[in-house]
Amino acid sequence: MATQVVILAAGKGARMKSSLPKVLHPLAGKPLITHVITTAQEMSPTRRPIIVYGFQGEQLREKLSDSNFQCEWVEQKEQLGTAHALLQALPHIDENDQVLILYGDVPLITAHTLTKLIQATSQKQIGLVTALLDTPAGYGRIKRDAHGNVIAIVEDKDASDDEKRIKEINPGMYYAPASFLKNWLTKINNTNKQHEFYLTDIIAQTCADNIMIQTVSPIHVEEILGVNDRIQLNQLERFYQRQLAEKLMRDGVSIADPNRFDVRGELNVGMDTYIDINCLFEGSVTIGRECVIGPNVFLKDTVIADGCIIKANSYIEGATIEAACTLGPFARVRPATHIASKVNVGNFVEIKNCMIGTGTKINHLSYVGDCDVGKYVNVGAGTITCNYDGANKHKSAIGDYAFVGSDTQLVAPVTIGAGATIGAGSTITKDVPPNSLTLTHRLEQRSHIDWKRPEKV
Ligand code: UD1
Ligand code: CA
Repeated sequence: MATQVVILAAGKGARMKSSLPKVLHPLAGKPLITHVITTAQEMSPTRRPIIVYGFQGEQLREKLSDSNFQCEWVEQKEQLGTAHALLQALPHIDENDQVLILYGDVPLITAHTLTKLIQATSQKQIGLVTALLDTPAGYGRIKRDAHGNVIAIVEDKDASDDEKRIKEINPGMYYAPASFLKNWLTKINNTNKQHEFYLTDIIAQTCADNIMIQTVSPIHVEEILGVNDRIQLNQLERFYQRQLAEKLMRDGVSIADPNRFDVRGELNVGMDTYIDINCLFEGSVTIGRECVIGPNVFLKDTVIADGCIIKANSYIEGATIEAACTLGPFARVRPATHIASKVNVGNFVEIKNCMIGTGTKINHLSYVGDCDVGKYVNVGAGTITCNYDGANKHKSAIGDYAFVGSDTQLVAPVTIGAGATIGAGSTITKDVPPNSLTLTHRLEQRSHIDWKRPEKV
């Protein structure tokens, strides 16, 4: 018996006031619906989740087709209600499956809660996630009899004043045998205030058939909160980020302010690392132990080893940085860069597609691109690798222990030998032998002893 997940996502999402379909709005950098699909895959690795789409469906399919998600797409041409949406999916569901119904705009439901739901529900029952909300307005309310058994769900718009006072709500996640759904869904009518086919009506029907309804609740209510507008989206975003921050703090990482901490991807951090305010982590980022990440640092797809200091306002993408390096403030490291241990990269230095050897210093205002830099090299302030001739990119190399004077241009392709010294202000166009001093022709320096500054008249 397998679980088939169905994700309802045909709704319009009008309150987002957006040309982007609601379920494509990002939470933690990923579309809402991909959070749900990820959970669906965890719940049912053997079945592709069915997504019921409608409004702006093509945009949705297109966007998700670039990802690795394997989904089955079912169109609901007209949005006639949640029961009608599920009905569209039914022909694609194996009669013997158990069906788990999720919403595309309820992104934070966890596999933990859904597993509880599945475990609590036998094959001849219906499972329902419910939650108690202080302000239940807008949600379907759970009606129970004197014994506490669920007997119906009444929609907010159809509820009496008494029913509106019920605080137990229906977040819209259900678990039921496909065979039951096939039987009941066709019997649902739309005689209600919204003239919609309500999926919630199956609850009253099942009760009439003496079928038990099991309920489970999530640990945090945010798990079951839906996104209808951008304010709710932001509330869930902040909840999500705080959860991540607290997990890291429990694991021994200090975070200056979890309200100013954002992860859009995967972040792993070692013990005793300190993360200052306003840092943003994208893609896959790993930071070792005892590092200090200064304020306003952006890290994307980067690995940083133990004991590194990344000073304020640095922007690092696609890099590997070995232990005990210091970068920034205002360092920019671009993809395909590997920085060995104990390297210093200072302010306003841009590095791209480089190997930088251990102990090397590039401390001020330099561009080093497509260059193989050895160990213990000193790259003086304002050094530029001229790697682009207007048509092609060329590589350069600087040998171990070389000293490159300030304001040097290395016109690639060019190689500086190990231990070589380049005089300040040189334009290097030819390979430099090891251990030599090289400097390009300089204009004679002259001083005019009797010269007077002009005076203001
Ligand atoms: C629904 C529930 C309500 C619950 C609330 C939780 C029903 C009748 N009501 O109400 O009890 O408290 O969700 O948020 O089920 N959808 C479709 N096709 C449709 C209509 C909706 O795919 O024709 C999808 C939407 O994209 C959305 C979900 O179903 O993901 C819920 O739809 P929505 O219109 O928001 O339902 P509510 O009226 O809020
Ligand atoms: Ca809704």
